[in-house]
Amino acid sequence: MNACIRAVVRTAIHYNIEVLGIRRGYAGMIDSEFIPLDSRSVSNIIQKGGTILQSARSKEFRTPEGRRQAYENLVAAGIEGVVAIGGDGTFTGANLFCEEFPNISIVGVPGTIDNDLYGTDYTIGYDTAINTAMEAIDKVKDTADAHNRLFFIEVMGRDAGFIAMYSGIATGAEAILIPESKTDINKLVDNLYNNFLKKKTSSIVIVAEGDQEGGAFAIAKKVNERFDKYDTRVTILGHVQRGGSPTCMERVRASRLGMESVKALLNGQTQVMVGIIHKDIAYTPFEKAIKHNRRVEPTLAHLAEVLATV
Ligand code: F6P
Repeated sequence: MNACIRAVVRTAIHYNIEVLGIRRGYAGMIDSEFIPLDSRSVSNIIQKGGTILQSARSKEFRTPEGRRQAYENLVAAGIEGVVAIGGDGTFTGANLFCEEFPNISIVGVPGTIDNDLYGTDYTIGYDTAINTAMEAIDKVKDTADAHNRLFFIEVMGRDAGFIAMYSGIATGAEAILIPESKTDINKLVDNLYNNFLKKKTSSIVIVAEGDQEGGAFAIAKKVNERFDKYDTRVTILGHVQRGGSPTCMERVRASRLGMESVKALLNGQTQVMVGIIHKDIAYTPFEKAIKHNRRVEPTLAHLAEVLATV
């Protein structure tokens, strides 16, 4: 997100527009937490995880009174256009706000490690998260192999399996369980047993936290009741996936999205999310972005299964 903030600030300055940073998202709009940002205030942040502006969930912004307060504060500060980085929740709030106060434009930038937003191939945070997960799984694999163990590793993804699928394929996981498809515990046990018969010394099962059969602990328990050939361990990767220095691709894409969001505002666009589809910039109305979800390509599940079971 910092790469995006930097790009927004510097693109705006390039077009002679003043920029204020809004601290803590919509909560900061309601509390008038505006800070002037110049080119130097975004120096040396492109390599940092998180966001210098911080973020917060705001219950107040869900109420008409909260949004009116935010509107009045924006007008008082002379703010005419807003770039909002976030996901479904952020765009739902932005959409409501734009309906109520159309004289302030809002352009959205997709930001979530889950990569499940409609209208873009990439969301800010995703590439860094899958690389963080991949490196951690690689490390667990070393110890799994040394000790002849079955590991269940839980990655983030409440509603989507992108992180699980990509980090799982990249680490050669024996099975990848995602919310988009029904998990068949019997089939999982059969596959693990076949691997055991093939003398595999360890197995890794990647579980997206939102899998319908439960998280990694629940699934490990169900498997263990039917299959006990390996010593079993469970690892939850958790919030390490949400931090850290962004990857190169991430920094470039976030910079691009930041620049395009400012250009979109200058071109009179509002109530749209700026995304990247097939390397091109695409604009999706908030309403559409909120309504639809992006799902993991089914061909990847086939790829993962063939490579893991042959
Ligand atoms: O929404 C993105 C996400 O990364 C989910 O995959 C995960 O369940 C959630 O955030 C965790 O959020 P929190 O920080 O509120 O626990």
